[in-house]
Amino acid sequence: MKKVFFIGLLFLLGLFVMTAAAAPEVPADGLKMDRVKKVVVFNHSTHADLKCVDCHHPVNEVEDYRSCATAGCHDNLDQKDKSVNSYYQAFHKAKGAKFETCVSCHTKAAGNDRDKKRELAGCAKSKCHPS
Ligand code: HEC
Ligand code: HEC
Repeated sequence: MKKVFFIGLLFLLGLFVMTAAAAPEVPADGLKMDRVKKVVVFNHSTHADLKCVDCHHPVNEVEDYRSCATAGCHDNLDQKDKSVNSYYQAFHKAKGAKFETCVSCHTKAAGNDRDKKRELAGCAKSKCHPS
C-alpha cells in the first residue's frame, strides 16, 4: 500500500515539474522585433492583462513560445505575401485572422476613438511605429 502511495506521489511531482516547465518566464520589456526595417519594440508588461496563449497561440494544440518567424511558421518576410506564413500579416491582419493580431486587437481596443486608433494602429507616429 505504501508503495502505491509513493508511486502516486512521484507521479504528481512529475506532473508538477512538467507544468512548471511548460510556462516560460515572461521576457523583459524592450523586446526588439527586428526582422524587418520598421523595427517594433514590444513590451510584455503592457500586455500583462492578456493570456500568454492569446499571442503565443497553440500550434498542433500545444502552446508555443517559439519565435513568430520560426522556419515553417510566419517566416515569409515579403510584405506582399498574404498567406498564413506572412510575417507582416501575422501582426497586421485586421480582420478574419484565426488568432488576434497586434492590429486587430489594437483596433478593437481603440473603438471609435480616432486619436487612439492612430496611436495604436497607425503606420507612423504610433506606439508601434514611433517614427
Ligand atoms: C500581446 C501579445 C503577447 C502576449 C499576451 C504574450 N507575449 Fe510573449 N511574446 C510576444 C511577442 C510579439 C514576442 C516576440 C516574438 C518574436 O520575436 O518572434 C514574444 C516573445 C516571448 C518569448 C521569447 C522571448 C525571446 O527572447 O525570444 C517568451 C518566452 C514569451 N514571449 C513568454 C510569454 C509569456 C510567459 C506570456 C504570458 C505571461 C507571454 N509571453 C504573453 C507577444 C506576447
Ligand atoms: C488582444 C489584444 C492585444 C494584442 C494581441 C496586442 N496588443 Fe498591444 N496593446 C493592447 C492594449 C489594450 C494596449 C493598451 C492600450 C491603451 O490603453 O493605451 C496595448 C498597447 C501597446 C503598445 C503601447 C504600450 C507600450 O508598451 O509601448 C504597444 C507598443 C503595443 N501594444 C504593441 C503590440 C504589438 C507589437 C503586438 C503584436 C505583436 C500587440 N501589441 C498585440 C492590446 C493588445
